[in-house]
Amino acid sequence: MTARHSTAWGTTDDPPLPLAALETPALVVDLGRLALNLDRMAAYAALHGLSLRPHVKTHKSSRVAADQMRLGAVGLTCATPRELEVMSDVARDLLWAYPPVGAARLERVLSLPYETRLTVALDSAEAARALSEAAERAGRRVGVYVELDVGMRRVGVANADGALALARLVAELPWLRYAGVAFYPGHVRQRGAEQGPALRALGDSLGVVLDALDRAGLRPAVVSGGSTPAAWRMHEVPGVTEVRPGTYVYNDRVTAALGACDWDDCALTVLATVVSTAVPGQAVIDAGTKALGREPMADGAGAGFGALLERPEVTVRAMSEEHGILDLGGSGWRPAVGEQVRVVPNHVCVTVHLHDTVHGVRNGLVETSWPVAARGRDRPT
Ligand SMILES: Cc1ncc(COP(=O)(O)O)c(C=O)c1O
Repeated sequence: MTARHSTAWGTTDDPPLPLAALETPALVVDLGRLALNLDRMAAYAALHGLSLRPHVKTHKSSRVAADQMRLGAVGLTCATPRELEVMSDVARDLLWAYPPVGAARLERVLSLPYETRLTVALDSAEAARALSEAAERAGRRVGVYVELDVGMRRVGVANADGALALARLVAELPWLRYAGVAFYPGHVRQRGAEQGPALRALGDSLGVVLDALDRAGLRPAVVSGGSTPAAWRMHEVPGVTEVRPGTYVYNDRVTAALGACDWDDCALTVLATVVSTAVPGQAVIDAGTKALGREPMADGAGAGFGALLERPEVTVRAMSEEHGILDLGGSGWRPAVGEQVRVVPNHVCVTVHLHDTVHGVRNGLVETSWPVAARGRDRPT
């Protein structure tokens, strides 16, 4: 008898497919590695008394989000309205970690189900006022994290005076609830053991802001930070109460190169087929930019757009839309036409966004499949 298993479209009693039977290119997740990655981060957060609010932009999948919630996440972090809409079916507590600017986008987000406890990270008075007005029109109060720049130089108020002024405004605006502060340490990309100076500098900048808020009677209830490369040392940053890693669920070639995971922790690959070996010195696979994305490696961490799981010395040297050129220069391996390979992408979040379905694999069998439900921009139907 075959075990009942799930596909992206429902459950079935059909026997699980062997991996080799999948049409390529296909997203394949090693279910054992995924479970280990999820467990490890949940255990880290629990050990250090940090709230875990994973960013869903990596997996964009209800199934993985549900696992994260089951393992103790306090809620989820989203970047897009569609992510918020899809995840409102999975968790009651959602953080929109993206500047809430633009009338159409605001109105859409504020029409999330009323049961959703929504918090928004923002860094400007304009955004705060517009959010308060939209919240009033929608008849719901919205939590706000004041976004701080502690070194990433992307978004976030630049100093303690700016943070204080914005926190005061948020606390005064009638439809907003001052819920805390947030920062994203995306600039901390050294290997774990070498992060000390960057984390101390981050802690110093954060400390100045927290002291100023404290003195003004605006001590934040939540201090939300965290990324995957800096995930394992966030407990060393004084004041942090919540962490928001995303990439850790699948990991990727960049994360491994930064030393934030081992190669064996890379749970997601693009299954591809060698479609040509006609040009000497290379092999062509059916995964190009539209299956892998054209993401570079981190500075100095290597070349190419992905590497083979089983032969990391073989990289994707160049791509067209549907062709990936494997560089065989550093390897004695010579694949045959029709052979399948698994490519670890450089930046998994972008790769996932290019696919409709994920296939969960164990022991060479496709045990389950699920949709990348929050990909795209439109409202889910
Ligand atoms: C605001 C915010 N929080 C958390 C994360 C998660 O970081 P990582 O992808 O390193 O896990 C990101 C990633 O882009 C982010 O932009």
